[in-house]
Amino acid sequence: MPRVFSGIQPSGELHLGNYLGAIRSWVRSQHEADAFYCIVDLHALTVETDPAELRARTRQTALELVAAGLDPDACTLFVQSHVPEHPRLTWLLECTASMGELRRMTQFKDKSAGAESVRVGLFTYPVLMAADILLYDTDRVPVGDDQRQHLELARELASRFNARYGTTFVVPEAAVPPVGARVMDLQHPERKMSKSVSSPLGTVLLFDEPADIERKVKKAVTDTDGEVRYDPEAKPGLANLLELLAVATDRAPAAVAAEYHRYGDLKRDVATALCDLLAPARARRNELAGDPGAIDAVLADGAAKAQAIAADVYHRAASAIGLLAPA
Ligand code: TYM
Repeated sequence: MPRVFSGIQPSGELHLGNYLGAIRSWVRSQHEADAFYCIVDLHALTVETDPAELRARTRQTALELVAAGLDPDACTLFVQSHVPEHPRLTWLLECTASMGELRRMTQFKDKSAGAESVRVGLFTYPVLMAADILLYDTDRVPVGDDQRQHLELARELASRFNARYGTTFVVPEAAVPPVGARVMDLQHPERKMSKSVSSPLGTVLLFDEPADIERKVKKAVTDTDGEVRYDPEAKPGLANLLELLAVATDRAPAAVAAEYHRYGDLKRDVATALCDLLAPARARRNELAGDPGAIDAVLADGAAKAQAIAADVYHRAASAIGLLAPA
């Protein structure tokens, strides 16, 4: 069975971009692959976080992922900081990565632009991400479009390590969905939907009430020419709506466009399709919220399973690079 690994930061409520870009593929992959999904709390520390809030969000993210369709009997769900091999392998990889290649990461450039002080962790963030992936002999990494460059770096670090120290790591492939890999903000369709940018009307949360979804879609920014066609360059707001309906109903955006003449009709159907798509997750979340202890047990079990693999791979890498094993 192929091995699948992916991760998500516990830095806010899950939104439609997370779901369509990544989590939907995770749910599918858990039945076809040996799947590991990680809540990357160490990555969340690269920006300012409130300690109590981070702890609560970590548990809440686990619960929301299960509500969204992850089955703890079918996949391994765990918290990154519960498996100490992640920061341990990061160090080995940091000693093979160069400052130049990390400086080229566009997400680092965006997040650090204009900041008075930039955390070292924000700079080395992609190396921790590479360690996450390489620790599990991962074949496939289902992610949204914004993680492509980080995946390229993970592949490069794995290949370089293998070439220098002998075959140690599996070189992973990114798996980016054909539609839904870059869900845009409904109010600012030139930028991606995101939990860190505060745009409450532009961000559809996975657990929004149907009335909120309807309101947000109705107010979505489009354009004034009034013609329904799929043209992401010239009509980014409309293209985003067409993509949402396409992905929610498993069709191509251009085929969806051909069925509409009026923006209002399209928006009505987008809202209905999103409400239908997200209804099962909302119902499951309400059930799970009644038993918070159950999620801790899932995470404890997940960490034990993850660590059994990660420890092996870490020791393989440590030995290859020349660290003396403890007697
Ligand atoms: P994060 O937490 O920002 O996002 C989690 C997943 O959601 C996808 N995503 C989107 N997809 C489509 N449209 C959007 N607007 C959108 N916003 C987010 C992301 O591409 C991602 O797949 N660095 C990662 C977490 C990570 C990771 C890993 C991922 C750490 N280690 C190892 C894979 C493998 C991140 O910050 O994702």
